[in-house]
Amino acid sequence: MKIKEIYNLAINKGIETDFRGKEGVEKLLRRRKEKYGRLSEKEKEDFDKEALENPYLDSRIYHIAADTEVKKVLAGIDIEPAELLLAKEIGGIDLIIAHHPLGKGLAHLADVMDLQCDVLNYYGVPINIAEGLMRERISEVARGVNAINHQRTVDTAKLLGISLINSHTPCDNLAAKFIKEKVDKEDNLIRVEDLINLLKEIPEYKEAIKIGAGPKIFTGNPENRCGKISVTELTGGTEPGPKIYEKMAQAGIGTIIGMHMQEESKKEAEAANINVVIAGHMSSDSLGMNLFLDELERRGIEIIPCSGLIRVRRT
Ligand SMILES: [Fe+2]
Repeated sequence: MKIKEIYNLAINKGIETDFRGKEGVEKLLRRRKEKYGRLSEKEKEDFDKEALENPYLDSRIYHIAADTEVKKVLAGIDIEPAELLLAKEIGGIDLIIAHHPLGKGLAHLADVMDLQCDVLNYYGVPINIAEGLMRERISEVARGVNAINHQRTVDTAKLLGISLINSHTPCDNLAAKFIKEKVDKEDNLIRVEDLINLLKEIPEYKEAIKIGAGPKIFTGNPENRCGKISVTELTGGTEPGPKIYEKMAQAGIGTIIGMHMQEESKKEAEAANINVVIAGHMSSDSLGMNLFLDELERRGIEIIPCSGLIRVRRT
């Protein structure tokens, strides 16, 4: 496979498993195209044209050093200059695939957060409330990433002559769908401890337990009944803001499965009597990446995991 084919496969896998459905994603792209059509010529010049085709602007091709057949990939959760030097040291790496966004992808992290409005709405939060509260959080995230040295790793890749891409939301969509299906299939999920035990069956979480990063109950206790379980915080850029938890409780959500949660949000979820099960960050990111990397392995590509990626194969 060529780099562009690998990248397109990631985007397509993300669309296939998107909470909004294929139609929902197509509608979003259509709307972007219509809006683009109404821009002035000057505004069109500055417009990121990739947004017209790619629903996940936090996932990009950063550098293609050599457009050859990819046989060996170095894949990791966070790719920094150190991992690029590691690739040189290992040798024969045709492509590095990062999970977390870099460069332009990082600058556009907030763009994928709209997805969370639809996920929240799917679980019963009225769309106007989800959009209102997410709007505030999206602008906060956009300001937050603004000051970062986005291009550092990308510049290093160019200097070292290494091809670099990332797949963030597409892989998080894969992880969210996988966990949602597992939760939906299980009839005996009564208490929070049952949910923890279910997560522990997933090999990435089993491995994470060994290094002290297994699933944890952030709020509530093992004896609590789960009520309605929502998979609202496994995809869509990053965490929502703390104000959402009261609204989620009002929408009838009893338990949230997330990857990570900041302290202020934890307090708000606790005040709203929501159980929060934090599955784990690197392990959940690994799950999504693995579901994608399996596709590459099936096509004969060798995968070398690094930087927090707990590699598990599903055949
Ligand atoms: Fe992550």
